[in-house]
Amino acid sequence: MKIHDFQKKKLNNEKITMVTCYDHWSARIIDQSDVDCVLVGDSLAMVMHGYSTTVPATIDMMAFHTEAVSRGITEKFIIGDLPFLSYRKNQLQSMEAVQRLMQAGAQAVKLEGVDGNIALIKHVVESGVPVMGHLGMTPQSIHQLGGFKVQGKGEARAKDLLQQARMLEDAGCFSLVLECIPSQLAKTITENLKIPTIGIGAGPYTSGQVLVLQDMLGMQKDFHPKFLKTYLNGFGMIKDALNAYHRDVQQATYPDLVEHCYAE
Ligand code: KIV
Repeated sequence: MKIHDFQKKKLNNEKITMVTCYDHWSARIIDQSDVDCVLVGDSLAMVMHGYSTTVPATIDMMAFHTEAVSRGITEKFIIGDLPFLSYRKNQLQSMEAVQRLMQAGAQAVKLEGVDGNIALIKHVVESGVPVMGHLGMTPQSIHQLGGFKVQGKGEARAKDLLQQARMLEDAGCFSLVLECIPSQLAKTITENLKIPTIGIGAGPYTSGQVLVLQDMLGMQKDFHPKFLKTYLNGFGMIKDALNAYHRDVQQATYPDLVEHCYAE
């Protein structure tokens, strides 16, 4: 998938699929799949590093994981997430963060929110770097939002979000993530924009969907938000495999003298 395919897919009413990817071995699997694009999301702070929010993600972490992912991806479009405050200090530092992600192998960057970001988005786009926006439940603002809660409920907030989405489109974003907002609002935003929307917890009317890979594979045993569909019992399957290995070693059925051992 290339940058122009995002727009093409929206025009042709073809849904876009995106998953998060943080490491080389899962990148190699995704690369062989039908999924369109990968997001090296700052959710890696939670999924890979065990933090309770995305706030601890740093540009070093993001660049490190983006490099590992890009070494495993040949066909898919890679979007790198700009982490907490990395694009909020001044233009020079923001552009250095963008440079880190692009030189680590990203083909676009994503950033959260609108207020105070419009001039930067325009500058990044004018510098030849595609930008993906992110509205609704923006996890980097978790402490201001007061938790992981559905956003854009009620007429005034919905109107606000639509206005923000238009501002991101006008600033040059090539697509927009809509996270945890009512389905009807996501539909209105999608219908009012030329650029594609990619939803997570935003219902079926967006131009595409994104899920955290480990969530959709059922690796996060205790994480069951309403929007999530799991396609595998990854946690259970991996645990069973580990127990089978442990049992084999205990019972001395692995390694098998013929199948797994070197002759003299
Ligand atoms: O970091 C992330 O995984 C994200 C997606 C949930 C959109 O931003």
